[in-house]
Parts: sequence; structure tokens; C-alpha cells
Amino acid sequence: MKEENKIFRTRRDFLQSAAAAGTTLIFSPMISAQQESEETADDINVAVIGVGAQGKNLINACRNIPGVRFKALCDIWVDYNLHRTATVLEHYGYEVNQYEDYKKMLADEQDLDAVIIATPDFWHSEQTVACLKAGLHVYCEKEMSNTLEGAQKMVQAAKQTGKLLQIGHQRRSNPKYIHSFEKLIKEAKLLGQITAVNGQWNRMMKESLGWSKNVIIPQATLDKYGYKSMEQFMNWRWYKGLGGGPIVDLGSHQIDVYNWFLEAFPKNVYASGGTNYFDKKTHEWYDTVMAIYEYDTAQGAVTAFYQTISTNSRAGYYEAFLGHEGMLNISETTSPWNGIYREKWVSPDKWKPWSEAGYIKEIEVEEDNEEPGSEGVTLTVSPSPPPPQYEILVTMDKPVHRPHLENFFDTIRGKAKLNCPSEIGYETSVTVLKVNEAIEAGRRLDFKPEEFKV
Ligand SMILES: NC(=O)c1ccc[n+]([C@@H]2O[C@H](COP(=O)([O-])OP(=O)(O)OC[C@H]3O[C@@H](n4cnc5c(N)ncnc54)[C@H](O)[C@@H]3O)[C@@H](O)[C@H]2O)c1
Repeated sequence: MKEENKIFRTRRDFLQSAAAAGTTLIFSPMISAQQESEETADDINVAVIGVGAQGKNLINACRNIPGVRFKALCDIWVDYNLHRTATVLEHYGYEVNQYEDYKKMLADEQDLDAVIIATPDFWHSEQTVACLKAGLHVYCEKEMSNTLEGAQKMVQAAKQTGKLLQIGHQRRSNPKYIHSFEKLIKEAKLLGQITAVNGQWNRMMKESLGWSKNVIIPQATLDKYGYKSMEQFMNWRWYKGLGGGPIVDLGSHQIDVYNWFLEAFPKNVYASGGTNYFDKKTHEWYDTVMAIYEYDTAQGAVTAFYQTISTNSRAGYYEAFLGHEGMLNISETTSPWNGIYREKWVSPDKWKPWSEAGYIKEIEVEEDNEEPGSEGVTLTVSPSPPPPQYEILVTMDKPVHRPHLENFFDTIRGKAKLNCPSEIGYETSVTVLKVNEAIEAGRRLDFKPEEFKV
């Protein structure tokens, strides 16, 4: 039967067909006709597993995406996160079924299309594989898994089932990042040859998370789900076997951008890490990490530095790509860490067409005529003026997670292609998890090209 003559008996038939057809349906007249005749045909029934801090963020980010219907929630913190999130969703008109155990949810819920997974990293693999095998599309938060074996199983399950698996590296769908890579680096070549990358996520010291005595999870439940105590349950990120510490938690977002913008994988990594401030009993992973990757890209060698410090917020978080003609400084946050800088030897005429094309806009810097030592001079005044700075003319005006979720739902509907499918999530996991190994080994570790493929 020809695709355009097929009758979609159920909403689910329609979505499955659309997701399988992928990008070929983007401009298909069948899609618009279908949407007009059956208004609910592309509604997507969604469950969320793990409704802690990030699960709630993702639900919030979904709220204005048309046709997304929350049907079920699952969380082991029943008396707190589960009930509270369900109550909020009820307030917005969704009647959701509530589950403590994801297996029961998959057995009972018959009309789901997709699942969002925002549990601690060590649960991602098992839950994702089970959801894919139950015939559901999955949006799984980063880090895809805390082990490469777990991440491999996820890629394999996506391939075997033909279901979609998007990994939550949301910068991949951020219009500012897409513009910077595709227009500024690739098309306009404003950086020239990129030779170095410098990125960081520094943040101020935070004490371990606490909890109210009224909502303690019974120890038997904690045991069942792999947590030794309430303290470990709340602060899972810092424990070996559960999370990967700040280098994985924060670094994976940004090191993912290194691979993306350089269009390459590193050939090796050096790293140093320490628990310099916290107590190792409650912070098994390193609170301070500095890593150096070496890349051989199509343009030449690139040395890429990354650091994460959990006790001081100096300069916040950003990624900087340094080329012989310019530098791109970009961050998921708004300014001051966003801009593109022309090296002074490069003629402004070379950048002018890209200003005229609306890609960038030069920022006028007022001349500072005051003599050093006179009133008004501060420690931030540099002895030589900074390179000419330009604004990146695409900004992000939505909650940071929304475009990535929109990309996931659009792909289910056959109108897009995943921006971070499991294969990319896997490549990033290989790149990032090796940092902890390199710290432990105390020496440079090499990557083999085949390591990045499942
Ligand atoms: N993309 C991003 O920017 C971003 C930001 C923050 C967190 N994350 C990721 O989101 C995930 C969750 O992080 P978080 O900060 O929300 O952690 P969290 O501790 O605040 O929330 C985790 C939730 O999962 C629940 N849970 C734990 N084990 C479970 C299980 N087996 N089944 C069902 N529920 C379970 C907990 O009760 C809790 O409600 C992590 O993978 C994290 O890396 C991503």
C-alpha cells in the first residue's frame, strides 16, 4: 500500500509510522492532511521516570509544547517528589497515574508513546532498555550511563527496537550553539584554524543536600533501588557506582560540544583530579578536575583544556574555541560569556559581510582615555585593549531544555531528525568517562578510533 493511502487506525499507529519514516516526512503532504483530519492524531502520551530536580525542569519545559500529554509518573520518593509533581500536573489538567516501580508502570500503562527518564545516571541503562523494548520512544538524560557497558546496551536496544532514543545533551538543539557551529565556524570560518579549546564549569561550594524527617524513604525501599542511605540517595552524584562526579555531571555537556564543533574525537587525555575540599566519605568523586585532550582534526592539531571546580565559582561556565583569526566564547547562560572576537591582525573588512548577513554585530567599545593610576581605573582594566568583539546574533529565548524536547517530539511525529541520538550520547560518554580513568591511572590514556563505536 502506498504511504499516502494508508489509514492510521490509532494515534499510536500514526506516530509509529511517522517516527519510522523520519526526515522523509518533513515535507510530506500526508502529514498536514492527517493533522487536519484527525486533530488528536499526533498527540503524544508521555510518562516521566524520575521527577526530582531535572524531571520537574523537563516537565516545565514541555508545558507549552502542543500535543504532549502527561499520563504517568514514576518515582521512588513517593511521599515527596512523586505526589507533589502529580499534584502540580493535576493543577494543569493532567490526570497522571503514579508508580514507585517503573516495571509496574510499563506493565500497566497501555497507551504510552514516549518516556522521559531523569533518574540518577546508574538507573538510565536498565530503564531505557526496558522502555525501548516495551515499544516506547525515550528521552534519557545525560550522562547516558555511568558505565560504557550500560551505554552500549542502550545503543543496541535503540537499534534493535527501531525506537527513538534522544540523550539529554540539550546544547545540541540550542539555536545559539547551532548558529555558532554551522554559520560562524563552518560557513563564515571566522575563527580560522582552531588550535585550542578552553572550557570550564566552576561553581560555588554547596553543602550536601539534606531532607525533611517527614519524608524519609524506608530503608527497604532504598535498598531495593541501590541506595545505602538517605544521604547517599540525595547526593548520588558524588558516589562511585551511582554518578560520575562533576566532570561527568557538568563536563559531559561541554566536552560534548568540543567533539561536535571540532568534528572529531580526541586521540588521548591527560587529567588530574582531587577531593581537595570535601570529605571523601561523602564525596567519593573528585571536587576539582583539570583535563587536557589532544585532537587531530581535519584542520590540524587541537589542544583542549577543561576544568570543573566545585568550591569556587570563578568565571562560571562557558566553552571557548580559539582559532588563529578569532575566538568564539559561548555559554548556555546569557552574557557575559557569549561573543566572537576578531584577532586584531585580521581586517575588519573580512568580517563585514557576515555582519551584513546578520550573523554577528560589532560591539562598539568606548575609548578609555584615562591615564593609569587616575580615578576610575580598576583592576579589570587591561593594559592592552581587548580584541574587537562581536555579538552572536542568534539568542535563545526559550527555557534551555525546550528545543531539545521539541526536537524529540518532532522526530516522533516524523518532522525532524534527532539532534542527539544514542550514538552521539555514546561517543560523549566514551570521551568523558575516560577522564576519571586517567586520573586514577595517573597518566595519559589513549583512545582508539573504534572505541567510539558500538
Ligand atoms: N540536562 C541537564 O542540564 C541536567 C541537569 C540536571 C540533571 N540532569 C540529569 O538528570 C538526572 C536526574 O538528576 P536530578 O538532578 O534531577 O537528580 P535528583 O536526585 O534531584 O532526582 C532524581 C529523582 O529520581 C528518583 N529516583 C531515583 N531512583 C529511581 C528509580 N530507580 N526509579 C524511579 N525514580 C528514581 C528520585 O527519587 C528523584 O526524585 C541525572 O541523570 C542528571 O545527570 C541533567
